[in-house]
Amino acid sequence: MILPLGPEKLAARFESVFGAAPDGVWQAPGRVNLIGEHTDYNEGFVLPFAIDRTARVAVRVRPDAALRMLSTFGNQGLTRADADALDPSTARGWTKYPLGVVWALQQRGLAVPGLDLLLDSDVPRGAGLSSSHAIECAVISALNELMSAGLGAEDMVLATQRAENDFVGAPTGIMDQSASLRGTAGSAVFLDCRDQGVRLVPFDAAGAGLVLLVIDTKVSHSHADSGYASRRASCELGAELLGVRALRDIAPADLPEAAGFLDPVTFRRVRHVVTENERVLQTVELLDAAGPRAIGPLLNASHASMRDDFEISCAELDLAVDAARSGGAIGARMTGGGFGGSAIALAPMESERQVRAAVENAFFRAGHAAPDIFSMRPAAGAMRLA
Ligand code: GLA
Repeated sequence: MILPLGPEKLAARFESVFGAAPDGVWQAPGRVNLIGEHTDYNEGFVLPFAIDRTARVAVRVRPDAALRMLSTFGNQGLTRADADALDPSTARGWTKYPLGVVWALQQRGLAVPGLDLLLDSDVPRGAGLSSSHAIECAVISALNELMSAGLGAEDMVLATQRAENDFVGAPTGIMDQSASLRGTAGSAVFLDCRDQGVRLVPFDAAGAGLVLLVIDTKVSHSHADSGYASRRASCELGAELLGVRALRDIAPADLPEAAGFLDPVTFRRVRHVVTENERVLQTVELLDAAGPRAIGPLLNASHASMRDDFEISCAELDLAVDAARSGGAIGARMTGGGFGGSAIALAPMESERQVRAAVENAFFRAGHAAPDIFSMRPAAGAMRLA
């Protein structure tokens, strides 16, 4: 487990690297998605929450246009760039994320100054917990304040999406940054991705005698790879063929007719999105009416839909989900973009040990790398620390 540096230590490290104290320290969390996968870019519904794993940035505005960036992890040394000449094709490693944010703010017509920036993060990378958006959201929160840009959460969500889509090259939606920027302790963020409407939905697993486990399969993935983009393209094709602005506009009752004139693969992609939107709405209803214990079957159905219709699961994710259930979880599903990353399992507290053991044993028997398993609950969204 990586231990995060507190704001004072990060500031002290910053000063020893850059020779002066930072103007401030900001943090933004990764996220877990409870349900609603690949629905965001279809203008549908999602229900993620911010986690207590965060990216933290110490930042100082410079008098020139130089961008100097260093992280506490990895072996990428001090990286330099010129704020007036950003080039997506030359950006490397984690620096793509702060550079992408600077670039996206420039695209909005803002003059971004040079910066010194030190990054620390304990969000596992490549685990489907949105370590990249945590960095972007910490950086945009810092710049919004340092530049007095006056951006609201919705603007920052769109700017970080622009950074991901057009600078990093990952055609992702708005779920992750919305959870990171708008999440609060104790609640999941019920987000309507058409208009960015948010309702905070209390999610207290412990209060219901449950634990939410995140199982990092250690299968690394990247949304800049072709799988994510090809799913998005199928959805856009489906919407076009069905004559709607986005798949959000297709109701479950429309599916039988859609089956008649979509090719089988496009139909299955569409069916996943349409039924997943419905599952998000039902999950919110059940959480309101009956609490977390009621949502297990919806988590299971979501996983089946991603495995069979959207085809974004993998052997390790399926094994994690099946083993968690056989160990006593009341519901489990892969979370995030897919093709690797993490699964979540909702389990009675008294079964936590059996669930962990069932997953670990299954991975060992299958010859997979040992998974990391942590319990998580909704934590605070982005904030200034110092
Ligand atoms: C990634 C993307 C999100 C969303 C999910 C799938 O996390 O960043 O925008 O599309 O995948 O639900």
